[in-house]
Amino acid sequence: MRKLLIKGGRLIDPDTRTDEHLDLLIVDGVVAERAPELTPDDDTRVIEAAGAIVTPGLVDMHVHLREPGREDEETIESGSRAAAHGGVTAVAAMPNTEPAIDTASWVEFVRNRESQIMVYPIAAITKDRAGETLTEMAELAAAGAVAFSDDGSPVVNPSIMRRALEYSTMVGLPIISHCEELGLSGRGVMHEGLASTMAGLRPIPAAAEEIAVARDIILAKMTGANLHIAHVSTEGSVELVRRAKDDGIAVTCETCPHYFTLTDDDVRSYDTHLKVNPPLRSASDLAAIKVGLADGTIDAISSDHAPHSLEEKQVEFDAAPPGMTGLETLLPLTLTQLVQPGTITLERAVELMSTDPASILRIPHGSLAVGAPADVTVFDPDWAWEITEDWFVSKSKNSPFTGRKVRGRVTHTVSRGEVVFEETDLNEGDARDEGEREPDVLSVHV
Ligand code: DOR
Repeated sequence: MRKLLIKGGRLIDPDTRTDEHLDLLIVDGVVAERAPELTPDDDTRVIEAAGAIVTPGLVDMHVHLREPGREDEETIESGSRAAAHGGVTAVAAMPNTEPAIDTASWVEFVRNRESQIMVYPIAAITKDRAGETLTEMAELAAAGAVAFSDDGSPVVNPSIMRRALEYSTMVGLPIISHCEELGLSGRGVMHEGLASTMAGLRPIPAAAEEIAVARDIILAKMTGANLHIAHVSTEGSVELVRRAKDDGIAVTCETCPHYFTLTDDDVRSYDTHLKVNPPLRSASDLAAIKVGLADGTIDAISSDHAPHSLEEKQVEFDAAPPGMTGLETLLPLTLTQLVQPGTITLERAVELMSTDPASILRIPHGSLAVGAPADVTVFDPDWAWEITEDWFVSKSKNSPFTGRKVRGRVTHTVSRGEVVFEETDLNEGDARDEGEREPDVLSVHV
């Protein structure tokens, strides 16, 4: 029997409505017992978690792992190590690889790749993501796809999107929509506003996203399908989703840490690490995203982890590919930007990064109930630190957050009962530097 005891932490599990100091015993990869004081046997490994938060492992429902095709930027194995480093125990991998994940054998390829955490494939909606012919959705579902998406590109033809939504109801999986009206976004590279005028960069109006969100909500109503909207970035999109939910339409949505941390004004630096699609928006959009996260309109925070090589990013802004890495900064940015200022509670943050994305994808994650698979994230909420380039384990380093001071750091990640990351891994033989900790400065607001 493999036994692991996580001792002395504050256990926050939205699934069982728990927020209390409990020891957590894991036996053979499953949550076996939770109690205020559990005593380990001789053969039990113990993680001391006093002062730490213990939560269900984070679920990142939107990542790009680049395999097959761009293994120089990321692989499923390297991306899964980055996930473990970020406290993420399950990811859903987007199919915009080369070739696209549009056949059952490619779905199986992704599922069978070596990884430290659970990697769930999202299959393409259309063959080669070309927007013309639907994939064999039933076969892809049978092979283990958890959703369908042409992310990276929109499904331009509304009739194809309608059919995709109809078929998705038959196979019982959600459609994840990349909402972009290409006629409006055109060759734009940043959000349309004062900052784009000042920077002299081609603009993308908020309406390019919002028109597509409105279209897909109308199609979801028409078909009764489960629609999930990826990377929501504007105030108008949040409002459209809010109204759709009020009307009883089966729509869910996610946003990403960059949309509640950075704005179009930052892009005036011309730093290509800030180029992302959809683009960083205005301060009022950012404020509306925060409201949507707090009031339940937004269901999930995903990273949209989009690794790109430095050579490809070290070009002028117009020519750089969009995207930034995010798996490793998902938790510290959410804690720093949302929990510490009191915008959301810690429990809501765990819901957004674990329980709710697991339930949207209907995958067995996001719970620390007795009997649940033992995926656990342990983090120190008061650890103040600076993100440095050499701290990242992802193969790509295109993060705009390098150099940023954050508070909250993952100390242990447990996947199916195995410790897949612990903080000392990176600094072998080097104990945690207590000098870096400033617990007196700010404490987490709950
Ligand atoms: O910024 C982005 N990068 N947005 C997308 O939709 C795709 C992604 C990528 O694959 O690099």
